[in-house]
Amino acid sequence: MEPIYEGKTKKIYPYGDNVILLFKDVFTAFDGKKVENVSGKGEVNARFTELLMRYLEQKGIPTHFVRREGNRIIAKKTSPLPLEFIVRNYAYGSLLKRLPILEKGQKLKVPVYEIHYKNDELHDPLLAENDPVAAGLLTEEQAGKIKELTLKINDYLSELFERAGFKLIDMKLEFGIDKNGNIILIDEISPDSFRAHKDGKSYDKDLFRKGESGSKVLKRYLELLKALEETVNAYL
Ligand SMILES: Nc1ncnc2c1ncn2[C@@H]1O[C@H](COP(=O)(O)OP(=O)(O)OP(=O)(O)O)[C@@H](O)[C@H]1O
Ligand SMILES: [Mg+2]
Repeated sequence: MEPIYEGKTKKIYPYGDNVILLFKDVFTAFDGKKVENVSGKGEVNARFTELLMRYLEQKGIPTHFVRREGNRIIAKKTSPLPLEFIVRNYAYGSLLKRLPILEKGQKLKVPVYEIHYKNDELHDPLLAENDPVAAGLLTEEQAGKIKELTLKINDYLSELFERAGFKLIDMKLEFGIDKNGNIILIDEISPDSFRAHKDGKSYDKDLFRKGESGSKVLKRYLELLKALEETVNAYL
């Protein structure tokens, strides 16, 4: 079957009222300029997404997650917003370029909330907070709802990671509009989309960006997955 969409790390197939997200066995960085195939990577990211979305559902956050089969996630079909929502707890990545007065790694006084326009050629530019409303991509109400959900998700996951012994540095979320017109969390939550640290070490895609081999990076992802699974299971 032909995918509806093929991105750098996933293929999306139609599946009735749902979609199938097939997570590819590939690491990519620098807008796709660096690529490495590692067997088993897709399933690991699908497992992160399952664990964390189920956890969030329990907390009352609406997500697209239905079920997982190996490296595939069956999810509710939505109209995906062409936007990325980032929340940051510590200063890393592009925030340091924008605000050079920050010291790398410093704890932020409050979480920073950012909206970016999804566009590889433009390198996902940062928007002003009311740009999506001005452009007609979101209503005022939807924009408020997404900000509220993003900050709640950050609180829930920061707490979970802390109990597992990790710091949630920052993360990127995506939202879509489901068939009832509701805003729901979509896409993935994995070390490709968040930064996590323990004892000053990265457990996320920064390792790959910095030149670590794909198989080493995947081992680190698995260590974090195991710790989070144990924490979630102890809590349930
Ligand atoms: N439930 C859903 N309904 C509709 N589209 C979805 C859903 N979940 C995820 N998507 C979309 O599927 C795509 C996932 O593919 P992938 O992440 O590989 O590509 P991408 O985000 O377009 O590009 P990139 O390679 O930069 O990540 C994204 O565009 C995402 O918005
Ligand atoms: Mg993506």
